[in-house]
Amino acid sequence: MCGIFGYMGRKNALPLLVEGLRRLEYRGYDSTGVAINNGEGIVTHKTVGKVTDLKEILPDHIEGTTGIAHTRWATHGGVTQVNTHPHASSDGAVHLVHNGIIENFRHLRRHLSTSGIECVSETDSEVLVQLIAQELASGSTPLQSVQTTLKRVRGTWGVCIMFRDHDELICARNGSPLIIGQGQNEMFVSSDPHPLTSHTQRVIYLDDGDIAVLTPTSINMTSSVKGRSVEPNVTVLEEAWSESELGDAPHYMHKEIYEQPDALRQCIAGRVDREMGTGRLGGMRLGHETLMQAPHVRLLGCGTANIAAEIGQMLIEKMARIPAVTHISSEFRNNDPVINPKALYLAVSQSGETADTISAVKEIKLKGGQVFGVVNVVGSTIARLCGQGVYIHSGPEQSVASTKAFTNMVAALTVFATQLGRTRHLSKEQGRDIIDHLQQTPHLMEKYFENEGPLHEAVDLLAAAKSVLFLGRGLSASVAREGALKLMELAYIPCLAYPAGEMKHGPIALLEKGSPVVVIAPNDHLKEKTLSALHECKARGAKIILIHDEGDSIAEEGDVSIAVPANHPYLTPLLTVLPLQLLAYHTALRLGRDVDRPRNLAKSVTVE
Ligand code: AGP
Repeated sequence: MCGIFGYMGRKNALPLLVEGLRRLEYRGYDSTGVAINNGEGIVTHKTVGKVTDLKEILPDHIEGTTGIAHTRWATHGGVTQVNTHPHASSDGAVHLVHNGIIENFRHLRRHLSTSGIECVSETDSEVLVQLIAQELASGSTPLQSVQTTLKRVRGTWGVCIMFRDHDELICARNGSPLIIGQGQNEMFVSSDPHPLTSHTQRVIYLDDGDIAVLTPTSINMTSSVKGRSVEPNVTVLEEAWSESELGDAPHYMHKEIYEQPDALRQCIAGRVDREMGTGRLGGMRLGHETLMQAPHVRLLGCGTANIAAEIGQMLIEKMARIPAVTHISSEFRNNDPVINPKALYLAVSQSGETADTISAVKEIKLKGGQVFGVVNVVGSTIARLCGQGVYIHSGPEQSVASTKAFTNMVAALTVFATQLGRTRHLSKEQGRDIIDHLQQTPHLMEKYFENEGPLHEAVDLLAAAKSVLFLGRGLSASVAREGALKLMELAYIPCLAYPAGEMKHGPIALLEKGSPVVVIAPNDHLKEKTLSALHECKARGAKIILIHDEGDSIAEEGDVSIAVPANHPYLTPLLTVLPLQLLAYHTALRLGRDVDRPRNLAKSVTVE
């Protein structure tokens, strides 16, 4: 949720911290701050707002080669100066940045108050720095102070701690992601790999319970889970992860929408076997027996990942003819799920750090279930927890609104459904037909981007709307959900996505003259049924924005009709979603929204 960055080395810390924050800002952007040890004490600068606002208040130079930094997504305490991290202990000896939630902070606050230490902010995080300083003042070492404090707190944390009088940084993880970047005589700390790649490819992912004491040349790790010291496990990052600069694109979302054809090529490369008409997902390490005997498949995810999972679920049932169910991760893990060890569980997540999905994976593993990750970020928590699965190879996705990760999640699940289907009822010819169309889809995406249709006429209707209804059937019902989610999170317009057949059982009451209704109606076996819902809306004066297949006469049914190239009926979501992404993008721009940093959101939701 929040972004943490730390540095210790020989270089001046300030520019490195600010650049680190800039690359982490998509994780939360309510307020931001830095603290640097200049040898005489610790200097802190923090402000409400974004990194650009912080740069406004920073002096050109601050002496010091050790520092910590933070960009916040508020959980406890308003978006105010005093609640901005880094937090300092009352005696100034300790400074800290935290990502996560301390559940028993009120109790600890009262304890501190009885010993005369008053917290100055409303945050849960501040109790950590006050408790550590209290231990330090009682004669403990920095490491002992951190260990004692973390034993007393309940909740989740990724923390980086700096000391006025000790030449070390201490970082610790429990639930929230934290990575150390090992450089030449310098160390970096970050919440995710993005800002590290321009400094080093050598990273250490902290596990829950890990505490690392850093100096510029050493890392000493202990694990409260293992109750002993642990050897740092170095991972070398993939080159692709350093290509996340904006370049000449106006926004990350714009850049990532148009990267989808190449991202899709990357995702399916080497994973389809046209000869056998099947998929080959080596990373799933799925034996034939397991595939054959799986009684059903359960898919988990949040937000856009949940919608991709829902499309995967329908394709698994269509191609493999076995039951499949999609769950919202937070609901799944809190409803004491019944786990069948023979079933297959797929945890779908772009970031691989979504706390609700992580907890669901832990629940499945605890109950002996076999769970596979469908993830974008290499080395992320869900990927490491599952230890088996599919990397969707979208490359870094910086825009909070997910686009290329969505289409690659759907593509990876389509390949999985084909592989599973071929072990059951899907013929080689049917499998080959799906693969041929899938390999054609990047080209069809590019074809759509060459002729995007009357988007701005549709934006005229959407930008003026009080609310918008999205309708579709089957796979397109999920695409309707994704279109609604994008318009809500980017343009802040209330949206409702409904399976078209369900519309007349309630939502139709929302319609009045001029209400915009977005209808997704590719030329599949459900088109006629979707058309009846379209007519029911028109009869109430609604304005229809219609997404349809190129050359289909249904186009005349729309007030604004946007054509996409026709595709295999199982693959239409990979094309029909494109105009919906662009409509959300352009409507948000028309309304002056910040498309890459939509309000109240963050790229990966690391708190439950
Ligand atoms: C999508 O645009 C949103 N950013 C959000 O719904 C997101 O899909 C959700 O938080 C899940 O994230 P994940 O894929 O990283 O797990």
